[in-house]
Amino acid sequence: MTRTVLTLPGDGIGPEIIAETERVLERINERFGLGLQFEQGQVGGAAIDATGEPLPGETMEKAQRADAILLGAVGGPKWDHLEMAQRPEKGLLGLRSGLELFANLRPAFLYPQLASASSLKPEVVSGLDILIVRELTGGIYFGQPRGVRETDDGERQGYNTYVYSESEIRRIGRVAFEAARQRNGRLCSIDKANVLEVTRMWRDIMEELSADYPDVTLSHMYVDNAAMQLVRDPKQFDVIVTGNMFGDILSDEAAMLTGSIGMLPSAALNAEKQGMYEPCHGSAPDIAGQGAANPLATILSAAMMLRYSLGAEKAAVAIESAVSSVLDQGLRTADIDSEGTQRVTTREMGDAVLAAL
Ligand code: NAI
Ligand code: MG
Repeated sequence: MTRTVLTLPGDGIGPEIIAETERVLERINERFGLGLQFEQGQVGGAAIDATGEPLPGETMEKAQRADAILLGAVGGPKWDHLEMAQRPEKGLLGLRSGLELFANLRPAFLYPQLASASSLKPEVVSGLDILIVRELTGGIYFGQPRGVRETDDGERQGYNTYVYSESEIRRIGRVAFEAARQRNGRLCSIDKANVLEVTRMWRDIMEELSADYPDVTLSHMYVDNAAMQLVRDPKQFDVIVTGNMFGDILSDEAAMLTGSIGMLPSAALNAEKQGMYEPCHGSAPDIAGQGAANPLATILSAAMMLRYSLGAEKAAVAIESAVSSVLDQGLRTADIDSEGTQRVTTREMGDAVLAAL
């Protein structure tokens, strides 16, 4: 069976980190006989420069045909003056909504080799391994009506609508229960059920779903408490499921517990398990073109792609082990460098992962 992977390098450090990840995927493809075919496309600022649009029709068609998409990052100062609808970020949002990528998986995993990068005490974070499942295509970021209007007494009034339908909640809930089942059987649903009706219903639906997953222990927490608990005792969590806005905030908070933005992958999946995979970080224009970027977040995103969209768990584990072994060897790009380790470039990090494979 042939499956297609579309790579979209994007802007800034995007092309550098994607180049290393492509090398890793090609090696994995041979070694595990996965029959993957690779296609390239343009998105973001690179696409604006080439075609005038952040998400050209050709890219969208390739994305629809692909089994999985690997994206670098988009954006940069060159395009900051553009109107909202013309900006590089529109390319990303267009892919997310066009492919209905409603399930955002954001792991926060602390590599023991990098424990000193965390701002929390080692005993609080060592062994941290959380998966946040964030709803990505609904909730207050998309609800209608929205806008700024003038009231009768001439005051401006801003408004957004927090809306979720039952089916939207059920499908994200199922992704989270499945993920919890594959991990340690613990799921915490985060809401504000004491104040917001939408999330009261969210809580009820999670309870209903739990009947189908007797092997998963479901708990609930209010979002304000969750923000606190994540820094007090993050290891109490395993899988977290939450709506778009709470998930946006909590996933960034959880990510920073690991201290290393250059290490964190992410996935966005739809109902067919088609997915877009990208590092959590942005296009890092400050270091673009210098060979200084850490490619590991993107390489680890490729591992998630193999696991969640391509059904190649063994290949995913092989990549994750190779990354761990490279860290064991003391090799570090500048963002994760510390005393007693060896500084390497983006390309050298890619070479080391290949060697470890
Ligand atoms: P950023 O994540 O690009 O950079 C933040 C800091 O982390 C910078 O100092 C950067 O050098 C460093 N950094 C990021 N990734 C790194 C890596 N792999 N290796 C080493 N260091 C790394 O966030 P920032 O500065 O807020 O945004 C820069 C641009 O990226 C903006 O145009 C923004 O809109 C865009 N962006 C794009 C995202 C995406 O494509 N998904 C997500 C976030 C930002
Ligand atoms: Mg965010």
